[in-house]
Amino acid sequence: MFVYTLPEEVISKISAGEVIESPADCVKELVENALDASSSRIDVEMLKGGKRYICVRDNGTGIHREDVHKVVQRWTTSKIKDMSDLMSISSYGFRGEALYAISTVSKMIIKSRFFQDEIGIKMEVEGGKVINKQEIGMPVGTCVEVYDLFYNLPVRLKFLKKEDTERNKIIKLIKEYALSNWNVHFTLHSNGRKVLDLYPCEDKKERIEALFGCKFEEKSIEKNSINISLYTSLESSRGEIYLFVNSRPVHNKNLLEYIRKVVGYKKICVCYIDLPPYMVDVNVHPKKREVRIYKENIIKEMIKELFRRQEWYPFELAQERAYYLPTPVVIDIIDNTLILVRIGDYLYFFDQHLLSERILYEKTREVERSCAFAIKAGKAISKEEAKELVKAWMSLENREVCPHGRPMYYRLYLGDIYKSLDRRR
Ligand SMILES: Nc1ncnc2c1ncn2[C@@H]1O[C@H](COP(=O)(O)OP(=O)(O)OP(=O)(O)O)[C@@H](O)[C@H]1O
Ligand SMILES: [Mg+2]
Repeated sequence: MFVYTLPEEVISKISAGEVIESPADCVKELVENALDASSSRIDVEMLKGGKRYICVRDNGTGIHREDVHKVVQRWTTSKIKDMSDLMSISSYGFRGEALYAISTVSKMIIKSRFFQDEIGIKMEVEGGKVINKQEIGMPVGTCVEVYDLFYNLPVRLKFLKKEDTERNKIIKLIKEYALSNWNVHFTLHSNGRKVLDLYPCEDKKERIEALFGCKFEEKSIEKNSINISLYTSLESSRGEIYLFVNSRPVHNKNLLEYIRKVVGYKKICVCYIDLPPYMVDVNVHPKKREVRIYKENIIKEMIKELFRRQEWYPFELAQERAYYLPTPVVIDIIDNTLILVRIGDYLYFFDQHLLSERILYEKTREVERSCAFAIKAGKAISKEEAKELVKAWMSLENREVCPHGRPMYYRLYLGDIYKSLDRRR
């Protein structure tokens, strides 16, 4: 109905290459589809780092019942129709290839109910072949489940990384899409445990601060329909840069390196570049990980200008900014097990064993060793020791889960506490 096969001239122009090489690639495609369907909530689940099972459920428009069987065919898409569309893409997807690619290397179940329909369709596909299709009752939206990725490609399966590594790739990926889609509610579960629960936010800054747990400074500039907003953490940490071009997370090395030079190497930086679609070619990389920006130099100039403005600040103030570091304040160690600590505007609870194990794991990379040598629950440690552990944790890149996949912390936002007590801050 709405999904068509692309004409030959468009197919021949689409950047060729492997689209699905890991569970994270699979999650990326499914989340992008959910976002293209205007979802306001996306729930992701994985088992064994996505190697055993992936599920992405959304509350978007759904797929028309007459289209469900078409979406796993190659080059079928509802997002573009011809060459002129290819020159000006505003959706994440455009090749009509992702579901086809996933379905050929897994066992897949697609359930979808179109927003104008009363009933949904469930379709089972195995190694690219539709083996069952039936009507089911379900809410409007789509749910795609992927079992046993690469079950029919043992060589590819062999090259997958350890569960821990694959899981971290997926956590990072969901964070990236949450950063560029701050009004969408994202949840992520791993092996049945909640890892992320990101409520819809009013603006980018709110999402960024909730995700990283610290304050950010915003700078923005607009010129000739090009909009750049750049957020840098006020505290120093391991330098991380997130770059989005028209909401798409991209890894353009050149631009990332440039931003790193301008921002410095010890900040978390989130940079959004929004420009008219015709100025961006997203069809240069099979996984769309890189884009080509026409007149990239203009973008660089604009970023430079953002920071030139900063030089107007008096020297002392600039100094102060550079050295502002929220120090964790250990409030208590409950039952010789739970470390209660304030970091910025959040109260964090850590399990001291898990925390110590996570830090040791960073050094040894061995789950059993780090578990055996970690501080046990119930052992008395000083607040100073606890603070050192928390500080070490703050500098890690993947802070959310321990090597076994358990969540690293439980935290409360101070603002929420004030709100629930009816006191203005
Ligand atoms: N979650 C979803 N909600 C609604 N429609 C969907 C969803 N997932 C897929 N579709 C439909 O299935 C079609 C095929 O999806 P698929 O991901 O294979 O291709 P695409 O998104 O069009 O392009 P690309 O291969 O670049 O991702 C989409 O064009 C869309 O019409
Ligand atoms: Mg897609």
